[in-house]
Amino acid sequence: MATDFVRHNVWTLEAQGDWPPILLAYARAIGAMTQLGDADPRSLAYQAAVHGNAVADRFRDQCQHQSWFFLPWHRMYLYWFEDIVRTFVAGFDDIDEQTRHNWALPYWDYGGADSTRAIPPSFLAPTLPDGIPNPLRVPRQLGPGDLLPATDADSTAALASDRFAGIGGFGGARTGRNHFAEDPDARPGTLEMTPHNTVHSTVGGYMGRFETAGLDPLFWLHHANVDRLWEVWTVSLGNANPSEAAWSTGQSFVFRDGGGAEHTQQSTDVLGTLPQLQYRYEDISAPIGPTGAGKVAEPRRPTELIGATDSHMSLVGEQAAAHFAVTPSARRAEPRHVYLTLDDARAPDAASMTYRVYLTVPDDDPNTDDEFYVGTASFFGATQGNGPGLRLAFDITDLYRRLRRDERWQDRVAVRFVPNRISPQRGSSEHRLAQEPGNVRVGRVGIVVE
Ligand code: C2O
Repeated sequence: MATDFVRHNVWTLEAQGDWPPILLAYARAIGAMTQLGDADPRSLAYQAAVHGNAVADRFRDQCQHQSWFFLPWHRMYLYWFEDIVRTFVAGFDDIDEQTRHNWALPYWDYGGADSTRAIPPSFLAPTLPDGIPNPLRVPRQLGPGDLLPATDADSTAALASDRFAGIGGFGGARTGRNHFAEDPDARPGTLEMTPHNTVHSTVGGYMGRFETAGLDPLFWLHHANVDRLWEVWTVSLGNANPSEAAWSTGQSFVFRDGGGAEHTQQSTDVLGTLPQLQYRYEDISAPIGPTGAGKVAEPRRPTELIGATDSHMSLVGEQAAAHFAVTPSARRAEPRHVYLTLDDARAPDAASMTYRVYLTVPDDDPNTDDEFYVGTASFFGATQGNGPGLRLAFDITDLYRRLRRDERWQDRVAVRFVPNRISPQRGSSEHRLAQEPGNVRVGRVGIVVE
């Protein structure tokens, strides 16, 4: 009889003591996958190349980003990777039966107590119990004792989106196949922005780039958490996935399992973890109250830009601000949604620093109090391609309404960027890469109403 696989919270496992069986089995499987030649589809190098690679083929260089295929594609990718790992684990005769037969990918839940924002200990230990070097430990910006900045790990704003597609939506823009920003409409959804992109940037190292992300064994636990948050959004919060055929059956993706067999899937094949995919998460309780249940999704309205910078700005790891004038919308006094937008962001090298973003009025008021906090920007993926560049949108409807209500809204605003620096812990420097702010060019900062 088939049983459902359970993907556990990595912190539940770590609480069992040093080297819990599921993580030890994972470490040994990763070790085995690292030994295989790069051309072997089961090797870690090949699996990372499925995500991003210099040469594209049917299997490689396929990751879907800044698109409504982001969530389904990564769910498929994880599912087949997990199958490959399970094949290795099943062959380890000295590992207990239970672990060998039921192995499932854990998830890194960084949304609990502050300490959950640390790299889990099994990914930092120098060696396995038998003394061989730990394959789960790779170079990262976030070292032992460091914590992800709280705003990088915060999923509450993403989970509060009540639409899947389009600007401000949970799941990303309606696009065709979109590996990076080649579709003119490409735009990440709120979950992809934070915590997905922000955690990529700050963990840094391999995680900072499309082509190397999968080489960090922690990448897969990060994505299991992102996948779990999709399940939280649909099952626990009652929101709906797109019903359009363009999403459900419009694109097919091909993967190989642990035995080398090919599998072609579409979004419709990965709508939910149970019963469709036979795995479930240890916990899918929502960190916020119900949002979507019983609601009819409101129709989209056309958007209008009501103010923007007229030249680009640079983010190089220091505080920075953009000032611009805003004219009230000619068409609507009471917009349904207001967004702060960053358009055409590009970076020559991976920018592994995130920025807390604040909208302040009047524009010469330098304070960055929580009341002006808008969200956290990551530029993961901004190095890719020649398309429209990375475009981010933060929902500022509540802030806008509050300032208007209090008669504090003004016709000049400032958007302030404050770098999220990792504060190195004592003794952590040895295993910590320098944080790379990169050189990000943001083409335009503006405010859009819907
Ligand atoms: Cu396709 Cu987290 O990356």
